[in-house]
Amino acid sequence: MKLPFTTLEWIGPATTGHLRLIDQTKLPNESTYIDCKTVQEVWDAIKRLSVRGAPAIGIAAAYGCVIGAQQSLAAFEQNADHLATSRPTAVNLFWAIDQMKKVEPRTPENLLAHAVQIHNDDRDMCNAIGNHGFKIIEQLAATANASTDPSNHSGIGILTHCNAGALATGGIGTATAPMYVAHQHDLKFNVFADETRPLLQGSRLTAYELAAAGIDVTIICDDMAAQVMRENRISMIITGADRIAANGDAANKIGTYNLAVLANYHNIPFYIAAPSSTFDMNIPDGSHIPIEQRGSDEITQGFGSRTAPPDELGAKTYCPAFDVTPAELITAIITERGLINPVTPAQVLATLNNLRFTPPA
Ligand code: MRU
Repeated sequence: MKLPFTTLEWIGPATTGHLRLIDQTKLPNESTYIDCKTVQEVWDAIKRLSVRGAPAIGIAAAYGCVIGAQQSLAAFEQNADHLATSRPTAVNLFWAIDQMKKVEPRTPENLLAHAVQIHNDDRDMCNAIGNHGFKIIEQLAATANASTDPSNHSGIGILTHCNAGALATGGIGTATAPMYVAHQHDLKFNVFADETRPLLQGSRLTAYELAAAGIDVTIICDDMAAQVMRENRISMIITGADRIAANGDAANKIGTYNLAVLANYHNIPFYIAAPSSTFDMNIPDGSHIPIEQRGSDEITQGFGSRTAPPDELGAKTYCPAFDVTPAELITAIITERGLINPVTPAQVLATLNNLRFTPPA
C-alpha cells in the first residue's frame, strides 16, 4: 500500500544526519516536511504535535536521542531526559527513550541502528495487529452479509476516533491496520471517522489517509456518534491507545471513553488496538495515567477564528487531551500477538509475556 506521505524518516549518516517528519499540524492542506537537526527541534515538534500518535512520538524521540549523541555524548542522558518532558501521556515516549539509554557502546552509529530497529519493529507490529484485527472484521462481514434485518446497513461500519493510523506510527497504524488489511482483501466496509475535537485529528488525518488509500470513509462530528450507532450503522469500534495499565484500562484521545460508554449501551464491540510498547506494567490501573492538559486556545480558537467569548468576559476553558476507558468496557485489546480477551490483569500479563518486547519493568 502506497500512501502519499512519509510520517518520519532518518536522513543521512549517524554522525551528521537528521530526522525528517511531515508536519501534521498542516495536514491535510499542505504536505510540508520539517528537518529536525537539534534535540530542541525534536522536542518542539513533539510538543506542538507536528509529530503525534503514541508510537510515532516514541520513534521520533529515539531518533532525537541519536541527534542528542551527535550534539554531545557527555550530555546524552540530559538530552534524552529533556525529550521525555515533551508530552506526558503516551508511554511509548518513555519506553523508546529507555531503550535508547540501554544501547552500549553509546556511539551515534549504534544508537541510530537501535532507533531504526524501533522504527522497523513498530512497522512489523502494525502489520501483525492488522492481521489479527482483520479476522474480526472478516467475521463481522460474514454475519452482516447473512443478516436479513432491513435496518442492517449494507457492509459493515467501523467507527474510529482521533488518528491511530500510518501518521501515528512507523507502519500502517494500529486502529487503522485492520482496515488497511481488510481493504487489501477487498472486504466491503466503511469507516466513520470522528472528527475529534478540539484538534480534529480524525477529520484532518484519519479521513485524509484512509481516503488517500481508497477506503470508504465518512467524517462525523464527535457528538453524532450516538445517533449513528442508534441507526445501526456501526458494527464495531476500534481506537488506538496512548498508555494501557496492567489491568487493561486504556488512555486514548479525549472522547474515546464516551464512545466506549455508548458502545456498551448500544451493544457494539469496542476494541483497542495497540503494540506492546504502549503497555505500562508499572501502573496497576488507569487512575495512575498522567493526563495531558492542553492550552485554552485549542478550544477557543483552534484553527484561526475565535469561537468563544473574549477572555475579558471570564468564560473559562478546561482541556484534558486524553481520557481513560476502563478495561470492563473494552471487548478486546488487539496486540501484535493476538487478542487480550477478556481484558483482565491476568490476560494482559499472559499476552505481554508472549510479546516481542519486554514491557517497561
Ligand atoms: O494528541 P495525539 O494526536 O498525539 O493523540 C493521539 C491518540 O490519542 C492516538 O489515538 C494514540 O496515540 C494511538 S496512535 C497509534
